[in-house]
Amino acid sequence: MSNQYVIVPQNYRSDSMVSISPADKRYFEQAQAKQKSPPQQMIFGGYSPSPSLQKSLSTQLSEQSIDDFGRMQKDSDTELVVQYILQLRDTDKREQALSELSKKRESFPHLAPLLWHSVGTIAIFLQEIAVVYQHLQPAQLTPAQSSRICSVLGLLQCLALHVQTRSCFLRAHIPLFLYPFLNTSNKSKAFENLRVTSLGVIGALVKGDDPEAINFLMQTEIIPLCLRIMKKGQELSRTVATFIVQKILLDDNGLNYICQTPERFFAVSQVLQTMIDDLHQSQKDDQRLLRHIIRCYLRLSENQKAGEVLKKYLPQVLKDPTQSFIKDEVVKKWHNNLLQNLSIK
Ligand code: TRP
Repeated sequence: MSNQYVIVPQNYRSDSMVSISPADKRYFEQAQAKQKSPPQQMIFGGYSPSPSLQKSLSTQLSEQSIDDFGRMQKDSDTELVVQYILQLRDTDKREQALSELSKKRESFPHLAPLLWHSVGTIAIFLQEIAVVYQHLQPAQLTPAQSSRICSVLGLLQCLALHVQTRSCFLRAHIPLFLYPFLNTSNKSKAFENLRVTSLGVIGALVKGDDPEAINFLMQTEIIPLCLRIMKKGQELSRTVATFIVQKILLDDNGLNYICQTPERFFAVSQVLQTMIDDLHQSQKDDQRLLRHIIRCYLRLSENQKAGEVLKKYLPQVLKDPTQSFIKDEVVKKWHNNLLQNLSIK
């Protein structure tokens, strides 16, 4: 899809406070008065939601974006997405709209800016999140509630992935709202899905190798939360949590941060060791998890201090260059490099 669908006003900066001189203000007001307001139909691509709903969305959009909306008129997907975004404001239709929007995540590339810049949408997401907090302790999340919040989390994931919204998402500290979900330990499917999907949002943030995202996460308690899940979690949440730690380690600041104090380093290396022992003892053939663990070790071995300590603390099974439980060729190479860095081989 081309740029014509981008509706983010070019000059939109949530944090910019512009002071306007009285003369500029008058000029602006006159110019605005001259501008003919476009027909409502154009704004909503032929759909006619209730007047109050139309007003709530259109007041948010600049003339530029209204033009863009006009151009999008023929795009039925856009019409549908805009309609669902409007329906979020109607509590009776919200659940359905959330589910439909989350299904559009991959097929509609401009969903993220639309969500972020439409009036009240993010507030609605935060409200949905806040409602769930009361069901965490004591644990009473129903499958239906879990599925509803997972739709919201899917949409947050889309905001975390998109280059145009990621930075806004971080500056609004949205990831912090998910930490209570990561801090749960109930084993039911409803809770595991909640954790996996929340981790998916953080995973989306770190996937782009964006130092801003890594720096943000480092200033929060995400690493201890991930370590806890790596140690005690179920297969999928464990894998995503390890992926997040791997991505933080691959960042130069991230590696320095983790290797800065013995407490941090040992917290990470002990959990990695626990996971290796667990995989080895249970004979589980989880190559994906193994891949992330080995990559974490290799990266740690690139830090001088950490490397020296690792020589002693590398799990015994990994000290054997001929071990056979690593199957992937790339991972075998990483393992070789690891042993070389530690002068074990
Ligand atoms: N605030 C803690 C710290 O700065 C966060 C933390 C706990 C942590 N365990 C960790 C960070 C392990 C990195 C690795 O130490």
